[in-house]
Amino acid sequence: MRSRHHCFLLLLLLSLYALTAASLDACPSVPGLDAGACSVPTGEKNENLLSMRVYGGGRIVDITHRITPDLPSFDSKERLGQFLWLLLSMKNGSIANFSEIKLPAHTGTHVDAPGHVFDHYYDAGFDVDSLDLEVLNGPALLVDVPRDKNLTAEVMESLHIPKGVRRVLFRTLNTDRQLMYKKEFDTSYVGFMRDGAKWLVENTDIKLVGIDYLSVAAYDDLIPSHLVFLESREIILVEGLKLEDVPAGVYTVHCLPLRLLGAEGSPIRCILIK
Ligand SMILES: *[C@@H]1O[C@H](CO)[C@@H](O)[C@H](O)[C@H]1NC(C)=O
Ligand SMILES: *[C@@H]1O[C@H](CO)[C@@H](O)[C@H](O)[C@H]1NC(C)=O
Ligand SMILES: *[C@@H]1O[C@H](CO)[C@@H](O)[C@H](O)[C@H]1NC(C)=O
Repeated sequence: MRSRHHCFLLLLLLSLYALTAASLDACPSVPGLDAGACSVPTGEKNENLLSMRVYGGGRIVDITHRITPDLPSFDSKERLGQFLWLLLSMKNGSIANFSEIKLPAHTGTHVDAPGHVFDHYYDAGFDVDSLDLEVLNGPALLVDVPRDKNLTAEVMESLHIPKGVRRVLFRTLNTDRQLMYKKEFDTSYVGFMRDGAKWLVENTDIKLVGIDYLSVAAYDDLIPSHLVFLESREIILVEGLKLEDVPAGVYTVHCLPLRLLGAEGSPIRCILIK
């Protein structure tokens, strides 16, 4: 019964979102954001008409990727594929449309909990529901990193991120290469090397680390970098952010994972507010 209730809640949220999107103007033009800001390379039918990227005259920018069947899946040649099924349909005489969803927990824009790479944390219940919303919400820096390197200690040092900054979203070559819009997973994405993660942990106050592809850790240092970040359980990793067409700078970030009991990852909705 529990899982049915969870499912219903998700569906309710999904339909509320659809209603809100439909009742607002699609793609308003916003100074400082280019016209393509709310269009998406993939997508179909009337979905794009209803798709929003900015709200409140540009004050709020959505940095969450839409979940579509074309999203890439970690370490897979296969795209996400179908994730939504209509169980009851008005076309078939039901009083309402009612869908069911099935998603890998680390789909699209998502968060990693400590249990992702530490089995004892997993067993101890450090799931996405245990993450600190204070870390996931507050002042944040969106920074561009050099495009010719992975995130090493040297690169981290060169960014001169001031002490006291607690949330940083790193925009990399991944955004330029539009990797989140490619159906096939690409192992050559930019991410943290172990020494870069270690430098950040030891020399900054950063507790929220955001990045623009499916993993904060470079493929070559996949597990070592995750271990360095998640060991203290103080740092939260948000991956797969949609960072194109947003000026670098200071914002307030708001990220909210789903309260999935026992899950070591969750899709997350993140927005920036100017
Ligand atoms: C209900 O589902 C049908 C598909 O059976 C779809 O065409 C229609 O737009 C949906 N209605 C609403 C209100 O979402
Ligand atoms: C509606 O019913 C028909 C016939 O049983 C079925 O083929 C179709 O898949 C159903 N559609 C939906 C959206 O449930
Ligand atoms: C980053 O590392 C990956 C392997 O994890 C590599 O394929 C890629 O070329 C590197 N990118 C840059 C810009 O050095």
